Amino acid sequence: MLRAIYPGSFDPVTLGHMDIIKRSSKIVDELIVGVLKNNAKTPLFSVEERVRMLREATKELKNVKVVEFEGLLVDFAKAMDAKVVIRGLRAITDFEYELQMTQTNHKLEPDVETLFLTTSIEYSFLSSTTVKEVATFGGDITQFVPKVVVKAIEEKMK
Ligand code: PNS
Repeated sequence: MLRAIYPGSFDPVTLGHMDIIKRSSKIVDELIVGVLKNNAKTPLFSVEERVRMLREATKELKNVKVVEFEGLLVDFAKAMDAKVVIRGLRAITDFEYELQMTQTNHKLEPDVETLFLTTSIEYSFLSSTTVKEVATFGGDITQFVPKVVVKAIEEKMK
């Protein structure tokens, strides 16, 4: 039984995240989407809102669970009995941060391995930050995020 964690801030979840969730859920038996509660950045959406949107967006994917977490990712992985962490790589600019994070996690917990999927080309430019910026100035985000997020951002921006 291969259980993996796909961790992130998901503020909010984008179609780029959904691409990684869908593809990795086909590879592993169970995928736990871990939503970080306390981040250095102040999120637009509370952790409850981010979890709710992710649950709605992944409701058709039967082997995907959405769980919030605090503290170290490796501790969360241990608590969930997951030996694999999945991360998406969009471009070379992601690499340095991902490498640092992966190697730190590996030092902290050598039994937890990080696997990378490259984001599908049509989403390689996309980030939650870009989505929020476009939405702030009234741009159309329907092609960037799941439907549930479009509604939620409209509510926030009112
Ligand atoms: O979506 P993000 O913001 O790129 O996700 C980053 C995340 C949540 C994966 C990362 O910040 C994280 O794992 N935070 C938990 C704290 C931790 O374990 N830090 C040590 C590794 S540097």
